[in-house]
Amino acid sequence: MTNPEWFNQLARTRRSVFPDQFKAGEKINDNIIKEILINATWAPNHGQMEPWKFVVFTGNGLKKFADFQSELYKEDAGAEFAEAKYIKLQQQPLKASHIIAICMKKTPKKNIPETEDIAAVACAVQNIYLSVTAYGLGGYWTTGGVTYNEKAKSFFELNEEDRLLGFFYIGYVAVPSVPAKRTPLEEKVTWVFQ
Ligand SMILES: Cc1cc2nc3c(=O)[nH]c(=O)nc-3n(C[C@H](O)[C@H](O)[C@H](O)COP(=O)(O)O)c2cc1C
Repeated sequence: MTNPEWFNQLARTRRSVFPDQFKAGEKINDNIIKEILINATWAPNHGQMEPWKFVVFTGNGLKKFADFQSELYKEDAGAEFAEAKYIKLQQQPLKASHIIAICMKKTPKKNIPETEDIAAVACAVQNIYLSVTAYGLGGYWTTGGVTYNEKAKSFFELNEEDRLLGFFYIGYVAVPSVPAKRTPLEEKVTWVFQ
């Protein structure tokens, strides 16, 4: 199947859509999320190790996730605790239809460095981004909240050597994102002809 015009359009009009832009409370059919995740698993990955793992929160699961991340923040923040951040961690997840925790399971193959496992999972996330766009839904990848808190790992059944790489929020779009800009290609590419 070749359709470059269609794909150029999809890749170039894909935008992050943030929770405040979602139709809060409107739930997407779980089967669509499954199709999106199947696309994620078709990402390239070195050594066929498929280092991704996803944990999907929806329905009451959103509240479970919200409680988890806000309470862990409260526990850890100490003197830095900010009430507004705590409330945001509690409320933001409830605006989504589904939240997918993006996880990396370290491959046991020694010749595959961690960077490549992370790169493979990032490729999977791009498939999620493009699929969400193709379905007319909105979403974004966030590395906020408890992403880099080691204590969060066990909640997602991750071991010490695994990584939590963030969360992908998905919802129906109430307010579309505005078109974005990119640096001209010439500033990012060097061609070598001979
Ligand atoms: C690895 C990664 C982490 C990101 N983390 C955040 C985040 O924590 N908060 C946020 O608002 N956006 C986050 N984003 C989304 C970016 O803000 C968004 O991709 C960027 O603004 C470009 O907009 P676009 O996706 O519409 O092209 C992240 C994107 C990537 C690739």
